[in-house]
Amino acid sequence: MAKSTTTYSCSACGATFSKWSGRCDSCGEWNTISEDTGLSAGPSSKGLGAQRGKTVALTDLSTEEAPPPRTESKVAELDRVLGGGLVPASAILVGGDPGIGKSTLLLQAAARFARKGLKTIYVSGEEASAQVRMRAQRLGLSDAPVQLAADTNLRNILTTLEAEAPGLAIIDSIQTMWLDTVDSAPGSVSQVRAAAHELTTFAKRKGISIILVGHVTKEGQIAGPRVVEHMVDTVLYFEGERGHQFRILRAVKNRFGPADEIGVFEMTGKGLAEVTNPSALFLSERGEPSPGSVVFAGIEGTRPVLCEMQALVAPSPHSQARRTVVGWDGGRLAMILAVLEARCGIPFAGLDVYLNVAGGMKISEPAADLAVAAALLSAREDAALPADTVVFGEISLSGALRPAPQTENRLKEAQKLGFSSAIAPKGGKAQGAPGMTLKRFSELTGFVGDVFGAG
Ligand code: TYD
Ligand code: MG
Repeated sequence: MAKSTTTYSCSACGATFSKWSGRCDSCGEWNTISEDTGLSAGPSSKGLGAQRGKTVALTDLSTEEAPPPRTESKVAELDRVLGGGLVPASAILVGGDPGIGKSTLLLQAAARFARKGLKTIYVSGEEASAQVRMRAQRLGLSDAPVQLAADTNLRNILTTLEAEAPGLAIIDSIQTMWLDTVDSAPGSVSQVRAAAHELTTFAKRKGISIILVGHVTKEGQIAGPRVVEHMVDTVLYFEGERGHQFRILRAVKNRFGPADEIGVFEMTGKGLAEVTNPSALFLSERGEPSPGSVVFAGIEGTRPVLCEMQALVAPSPHSQARRTVVGWDGGRLAMILAVLEARCGIPFAGLDVYLNVAGGMKISEPAADLAVAAALLSAREDAALPADTVVFGEISLSGALRPAPQTENRLKEAQKLGFSSAIAPKGGKAQGAPGMTLKRFSELTGFVGDVFGAG
């Protein structure tokens, strides 16, 4: 019998198998395995044989290396997320929900880089050149020296890029690109993986920076295998709630700068505008102090960002009470509720709990724990915290409060925005900022007793 070349791979983790199954043995996900045809079987299992290679030059770690020259777009929000500008020959993946504004952002970035003298090619696989031109016109970018191409055949695109030798190529999107050497349809795991591999190795070989646009699946991951994220130098997520005009560009991986850095934009009628003071924006919709609303002094990357945590606690009509979270981790909420119950004797059984981070912001910092606990208690006790107070600190399972990093930066930002007092954990080196009243607690019970007179 002829040996079958069909392999199967998992769209979540990229693992390959020789037969199909309902569940991926490697990552445990269900229904993620699909057929991969025409893929090479990978490196041969034969040894290297008798042929010898040449010796590779070794250096030590102390060799002086000049920092990579960077091209700045002068859009501060974008440059910061890139780690200080675009590094030559780097590969960047920008992921986000459909319609969130990826094409808009990248067209604007392309125009900026092109005006800075970087030869820029924008390849659209989703829209015709005329559509891209129309959008550019609407954004007032028609005069920018960006070159457009509309194609999805990667062989044509690579030949064009090789002939033109641009400094930056933008591929919108990786899911529309296809290689004629791979049999499956565009957007399938093997096509996305092969196309991303071709493009990133091409970028490194030719010294071209490349930006790949990637769609995000319902689960919030870049469609196609996770391996695309491993292939590139930088992974940025463009996120935001459809109903809000704020958009956040977040670095989740960056070989050339700090990860976790965010850039904040606002979607306007004339494209994306940068927001240089996000705290003011996130708090601008805040009304009178109300029960359940607490301002969290957070840090995103290197920058302090204030935002509002909103909680609603109501008797549940269901046999199983609801726990709904937007903009924060559901598991973390369950943990805070458990700590409040076990350590402070405040039960939430039979109560529906809703938690929302205002403005479409997503928070992953553990220091938000105390602000969440404060919002939950404030909602439960129907008692508003003073309007001039910010809260931050991590809660451990024992009910102890752990100091948060960069206390001073948080306090300074809060003060700049007109807050005059803060609730924070004890410990840590940082002193308060002048003019800020600082209330410090080492235990959650102490905080609950002092602020809500309970517990
Ligand atoms: P787009 O960049 O096409 O999203 P993606 O490439 O991520 O799918 O953004 C489309 C949305 O942005 C669309 O709903 C309209 C909105 N938009 C504006 O509000 N203002 C603008 O100036 C532009 C160009 C788009
Ligand atoms: Mg698009």
